[in-house]
Amino acid sequence: MKVGILGSGDVAKSLGTGFVTLGHEVRLGSRTAGNPKATEWANATNGKGSTGTFADTAAFGEVIVLATLGVATVDAIRQAGVTHFDGKVVIDATNPLAFSAQGTPSLAIGLTTSQGEENQKAIPKAHVVKAFNTTGNANFFRPKFPGGPPDMFVCGNDAGAKKKVIEILHEFGWPSVLDVGGIEASRELESLCILWVKSAFALSNFQVAFKLLRR
Ligand SMILES: NC(=O)c1ccc[n+]([C@@H]2O[C@H](COP(=O)([O-])OP(=O)(O)OC[C@H]3O[C@@H](n4cnc5c(N)ncnc54)[C@H](OP(=O)(O)O)[C@@H]3O)[C@@H](O)[C@H]2O)c1
Repeated sequence: MKVGILGSGDVAKSLGTGFVTLGHEVRLGSRTAGNPKATEWANATNGKGSTGTFADTAAFGEVIVLATLGVATVDAIRQAGVTHFDGKVVIDATNPLAFSAQGTPSLAIGLTTSQGEENQKAIPKAHVVKAFNTTGNANFFRPKFPGGPPDMFVCGNDAGAKKKVIEILHEFGWPSVLDVGGIEASRELESLCILWVKSAFALSNFQVAFKLLRR
């Protein structure tokens, strides 16, 4: 499968390495071609990884991942070319973080909309599925915890797209995936990211992930 990942940061590289390890072809996209972080990553993939602009990457991907600065994601989608997303499964890992000089980040939006909903609105013919946004990038691929595998949460409007993303999550080493509803559930999943950050700071440990206990 060809996977186009919009982004050149830790999330894009971590997901890119996971997809490459599973045998997929991956392109990382940036605002300009030749981004040094994306190029360094691609050079270490034995030819499975490549780089390009957001537009090259969106055109390349059969599945597309959104891994850009949360509040800049709709701009990145427009730079990528909205029609390149038509009919495709889009994995949305973004969070609309608002950074301040002090303390942990908060959400720039969240009560009446969410980044997931804004992203879906920007690409109405694509099938956006929120995933990977509720844990740190170091946990994305084959997470190992003494308490067993953590839970991943997904939401989105298209059942077929969620099924595809859940299959991908299983391949990434997430056997327990909870589908919590339509794309508007991004409001809760993006809030959960803030709880994850606050928990990690409270514990001085970023090797943390959520798990629901069941009985
Ligand atoms: N860090 C984590 O562990 C983690 C975990 C889960 C979810 N997330 C979420 O995943 C996303 C990516 O996080 P990250 O830490 O890897 O990277 P990041 O620093 O949040 O974002 C880097 C990417 O955003 C692009 N970007 C920045 N400003 C832009 C603008 N004005 N217009 C268009 N694109 C712009 C950059 O483009 P260039 O390539 O051109 O520089 C780069 O590709 C974020 O939404 C974050 O909240 C992060």
